[in-house]
Amino acid sequence: MTATQQPAYRLSDWAEGYTTLAKEYDYAIDEIEGCIPAELQGTLFRNGPGRFDRGGISYKHPFDGDGMICAIRFENGKAHFRNRFVRSEGFVEEEKADRILKKNVFATLRPGGFLNNIFDFSFKNVANTNVMYWAGKLLALWEPAPPHGLDPRTLETIGIDDLDGLLKGGLPFSAHPRRESETGDWLTFGVRSGFQTDLSLYRLKPDGKILVEGKHTIPGFAFLHDFAFSENYWIFVQNPMALDPLPFVFGFKAAGECLRLAEGQPTRIILIGRHDGKVRTIETDPFFVFHHVNAFEEAGKLMIDSVRYPRYITTQEDRDFRETDFSQLDPGQLWRTEIDLQTSRVETKQLLSRTCEFPQINPGVMGKPHRFVYLGATDRAEGNAPLQAIVKFDMSNRESVVRSFAPQGFVSEPVFVPHPNRTEEDAGWVLTMVYDASRRRTDVEILDGQTLQRCARLSLKHHVPHGLHGSFVSEVFAS
Ligand code: CO
Repeated sequence: MTATQQPAYRLSDWAEGYTTLAKEYDYAIDEIEGCIPAELQGTLFRNGPGRFDRGGISYKHPFDGDGMICAIRFENGKAHFRNRFVRSEGFVEEEKADRILKKNVFATLRPGGFLNNIFDFSFKNVANTNVMYWAGKLLALWEPAPPHGLDPRTLETIGIDDLDGLLKGGLPFSAHPRRESETGDWLTFGVRSGFQTDLSLYRLKPDGKILVEGKHTIPGFAFLHDFAFSENYWIFVQNPMALDPLPFVFGFKAAGECLRLAEGQPTRIILIGRHDGKVRTIETDPFFVFHHVNAFEEAGKLMIDSVRYPRYITTQEDRDFRETDFSQLDPGQLWRTEIDLQTSRVETKQLLSRTCEFPQINPGVMGKPHRFVYLGATDRAEGNAPLQAIVKFDMSNRESVVRSFAPQGFVSEPVFVPHPNRTEEDAGWVLTMVYDASRRRTDVEILDGQTLQRCARLSLKHHVPHGLHGSFVSEVFAS
């Protein structure tokens, strides 16, 4: 790359992807290029903010946007699209009033300055981070609070689901569950943090039963967005962060704006024994993580693959998020953390320098050695920028297959769907939604899991805002 090289994208094209989609649709997708594989049967559920403004006032952070679920149903070579907002209490009230009434976690306060926010610990549950299907329930996940239950066929909101009282009183429930392939159980957690951190570990059985696998208190503040598991451990990475509670309590700032990097503090890797519940904390050089790829044990070592940042990514003060200066932001990159389980010695190595996020693997290798990682990534191999490409990274030879949608396409998380009749780790499809700024519309891309060649491009009739996480289930929900 030369110094004079133009960026691969226009910032205004990327920012347009944060336009509110107010309308709710329900239609058979008829603009299809290529062929939908006949073996691809099931439903892709995706969650992400769908509304970014209210009553003419823009939310300050995209993560404050109201959760909107998309369901793309694949059946016999055909596809169907539906989207619905989660009817959270806050959404319904604000929809009626057509103005911002609630305080948000990330950065949006109620209008009216600090007197209108002082001592207000209530948050709007925006239900916008992930969506999981478990034991007949479709759950819209948002980590500070219990999930919202939805009808998997119509996406209609049933209401807050406290999981048979487990989350009574509004207990938190992570947006990053991981499935154990042998049992079909979901492992997940809830975390509430202040000057210390309370962590609950849950196992969700396919028959709807829930087991509490442990409750732990960890010293200090912890922002635990994701976790990983291996054969013997629950794995959490405690980023070196601290909470400045005063501006939040007094109403000057939203909670997300009061987080800061704790200078000189290490990153702590917290291992909780899956069989004995013993907690072991291992300190290493500071870094920041939202998402892990996977973890596994091999020859007395624990491997944890993650997308790492050199420090906590904060909102750029006094700048609209649509004007984000990517060149000033630290990139997320793929790293391996290797822990010798005998000596607790930690070794870290960068696997890929290209900026990336939203790591995914074949769900069948969760907690076991994986060879292939799928990522949303930048078009260029160097420098920070919006995610415009899907990368398939091969751990065995460190080679990447890149499929870019630059200059005007912007990708979302790649979801890997295993082929039902094949056993190779990369046999299957990668599903991603790509916002095409040239047409101001979004396409659902079905890529071959081995080559990233396009199997089919399904053009939606409208745009879908840049989303967060989703999941594929093999059920086809007829409405
Ligand atoms: Co996440």
